[in-house]
Amino acid sequence: MYSYECSLHTRSEKKIPGNKVLLEAAFKKTIFLGNTYLKVNPKSKFPNPKSKIIFAAIMSKSTDELFKNVISHAKEYGFVFPSSEIYDGLSAVYDYGQNGAELKNNIKTYWWKAMVQMNDNIVGIDSAIFMHPKIWKASGHVDGFSDPMIDNKDSKKRYRADQLLEDKIAKYDSEGKTDKAEQLQHDMDEALKAEDLTRLRDLIIEHELACPVSGTRNWTEVRQFNLMFSTQMGAVADDADTIYLRPETAQGIFVNYLNVQKSGRMKIPFGIAQIGKAFRNEVIARQFIIRMREFEQMEMQFFVRPGTQKEWFDQWKETRLKWHLALGTDAAKYRYHEHTKLAHYADAAYDIEFEFPFGFKEVEGIHSRTNFDLSQHEKFSGKKLQYFDPEVDPETGKPFGNYVPYVIETSIGLDRMFLLTMINAYEEEDLSTEDKQDSRTVLRLHPCLAPVKAAIFPLTKKDGLPEKAREIMDKLKLDFNIQYEEKDAIGKRYRRQDAIGTPFCITVDHQTLEDNTVTIRHRDSMAQERVPADQLDKIIGDLVSWRNVLS
Ligand code: GAP
Repeated sequence: MYSYECSLHTRSEKKIPGNKVLLEAAFKKTIFLGNTYLKVNPKSKFPNPKSKIIFAAIMSKSTDELFKNVISHAKEYGFVFPSSEIYDGLSAVYDYGQNGAELKNNIKTYWWKAMVQMNDNIVGIDSAIFMHPKIWKASGHVDGFSDPMIDNKDSKKRYRADQLLEDKIAKYDSEGKTDKAEQLQHDMDEALKAEDLTRLRDLIIEHELACPVSGTRNWTEVRQFNLMFSTQMGAVADDADTIYLRPETAQGIFVNYLNVQKSGRMKIPFGIAQIGKAFRNEVIARQFIIRMREFEQMEMQFFVRPGTQKEWFDQWKETRLKWHLALGTDAAKYRYHEHTKLAHYADAAYDIEFEFPFGFKEVEGIHSRTNFDLSQHEKFSGKKLQYFDPEVDPETGKPFGNYVPYVIETSIGLDRMFLLTMINAYEEEDLSTEDKQDSRTVLRLHPCLAPVKAAIFPLTKKDGLPEKAREIMDKLKLDFNIQYEEKDAIGKRYRRQDAIGTPFCITVDHQTLEDNTVTIRHRDSMAQERVPADQLDKIIGDLVSWRNVLS
């Protein structure tokens, strides 16, 4: 590790005025500085660490541009498409393409293995999206699941009042007005905590927030807007019951808590995990798949003895961050954020936030939900949801007996985790040498998450090479997702696989027919080696094994 003090230059060596940066990890490929991101060409000559030589090997790009590039890459390579695109799309709804579905499934598998398979006291369920409407009354969502919204009277556009203020805080921060940013954050938190909608509007006026569309400050009052989608269940409209599309998967766990506990003979502490769709009519949906109207959650409710919730909360907070970091992500890109405005059910809550190109955003929430949900369901359903704890309380010398368990929840948005993974992996790598300009776009995905584990290329389309390549593929595909490609020059095929993050490209050539060896090319180093074809399953298996992240 070296520290360089360097001036920032664009690729064309035009100096970016006034910028100096301490480039701590010289070999770190990408660093963020304000709204600029810098890329370092590892092949370029690094300056002498002792001198303050201008660091010329830096490409600069705005974070907006980086984000836009990731979005178009996701579309071009079959990861994410706008939903109903041929009908001009549907706002804040997205479809996952052939590579996106694989990547998403791999993230789900990683979560399921870490939460369910690795913990003998956690089991997984799959509950229905449609649930009895009383559930949402009991949980507080009918009355309390709303966002403060404000309309601009000129543009007729609707905004979330707290998001407008958050944008202003970020602007103050980027302008170096930290005091103002902190004061506004504090005032907003207080207003949200007190559910003081008038104060929220006052803050919008005081800080001179204008509508990004009309540019005016002609605002309505701030009102609460319920985020649940409703529909009708039943054949005859008049008799039909209004039901809701679930806004969180958690309630499906709560209402099945006793079924699982009894049928699985679960003993406290134990957890129930679930992956599934959730729906929210977000007032303002933005930043691609960060805020969607239909999205997926991976949630786990951990049922504990009352009084032990703090200790379990701390433990799960730590365990969940470790899960993220095991993928090799730079720890500096993550941070905890403590909630000041607690949800109606929580007595403590932290978010795990990731540094996206547009700033730190929540990816996962860890909530201490008390016994609120189970107690509410007892009340609304009239059924007992208690647990009999036979363990002896050392203080009283008697069994703990019957109680409604407390709950620690871990709740991660699958789509946000997906975006985080794409952004973290995406790299436009400059491969230029002194005589040749060259570059590639590579997704440096963790091999466990890569949609395709290996691609098989016959060097040419003749001489029996395609047949040999397919024979090798047929063996490997029993264990791994493998792609076969014979079109275009090998170099182009490498680039296509780099772009979707395939860790290995295997080339079958004439020598393969003689000695059954192949060339294997590694995505990250681009190094190539000759290996016996019958060792491929071991080589691929070792790199993509879940052991690498779970143990
Ligand atoms: N059961 C608790 C719960 O739902 P939450 O903080 O509202 O808590 C949990 O949501 C996670 O779900 C968030 O951390 C986020 O990753 C994801 N999430 C929430 N709303 C979302 C949306 N509109 N689009 C995409 N992901 C969302």
